[in-house]
Amino acid sequence: MQKQFHILGLFPDLFKDYFSSSLLGKAQAAGLLDFKYHQLRDWSLGKNQHHAVDDRPYGGGSGMVMLPEVICAAVRDLKKQHQIEHVVMTTPAGHPLNPKRARDLSQKKNLLFLCGRYEGIDQRAVDLVVDEEISIGDYVISGGELAATVVIDAVARFVPGVIRNDDATVEESHEAGLLEYPHYTRPEEFENIPVPEVLLSGHHGKIADWRRQESLRRTWLRRPDLLKQADLSEDDRRFLAELIHKKKIEN
Ligand code: ADE
Repeated sequence: MQKQFHILGLFPDLFKDYFSSSLLGKAQAAGLLDFKYHQLRDWSLGKNQHHAVDDRPYGGGSGMVMLPEVICAAVRDLKKQHQIEHVVMTTPAGHPLNPKRARDLSQKKNLLFLCGRYEGIDQRAVDLVVDEEISIGDYVISGGELAATVVIDAVARFVPGVIRNDDATVEESHEAGLLEYPHYTRPEEFENIPVPEVLLSGHHGKIADWRRQESLRRTWLRRPDLLKQADLSEDDRRFLAELIHKKKIEN
């Protein structure tokens, strides 16, 4: 079944090139995904000659706040016109994006992404028409468009058929709770650096073990917080204990 991603904001043209390229472009051509872009200004108040979509914040302060009438009218119209099940807003104040959230969103029928600009969106509109607020990380970027692109890409990869091998998303970094192992291709030696020998051995069992251990090593070094929730075997735990032991000796 085709999944539609509706995107609502002030800069709908920003998305087209990205979503029509590469993997998502192919999925779109195959009819698995569809992207629809909506200009928020089309819902700006009729009586407002400048098509304003924002106003100054009550209580003072810098920046502008997007008008609740415009947001609510746009989201409600789009929900009526399309079978939209869930409305997502990208904001640095949202819940963090993670694989589970992306997977859950991939199981909803059609999605609408609301991209905020300026200081934000009037809270009453958020309370009335937004189902979920998502952040892509602990930093602020200039608008919700780029964040929505990241969220949509992560969600689309979980839509069945988008990635050829259905296991790929499961095996991939983070989804398994670990960072991904390093990759190598030809030549066998580059600037005096050889490819790890085990990868040339043709021994699938040993290669799988090496990859798992490199994933564990990287995760331990870079994102030890992930190890707490990772699904670890006895062998994994033994390997990590050895790493920690070695580290203690080195220090
Ligand atoms: N808009 C601006 N910064 C953002 C972030 N980190 N996540 C989601 N939306 C944003």
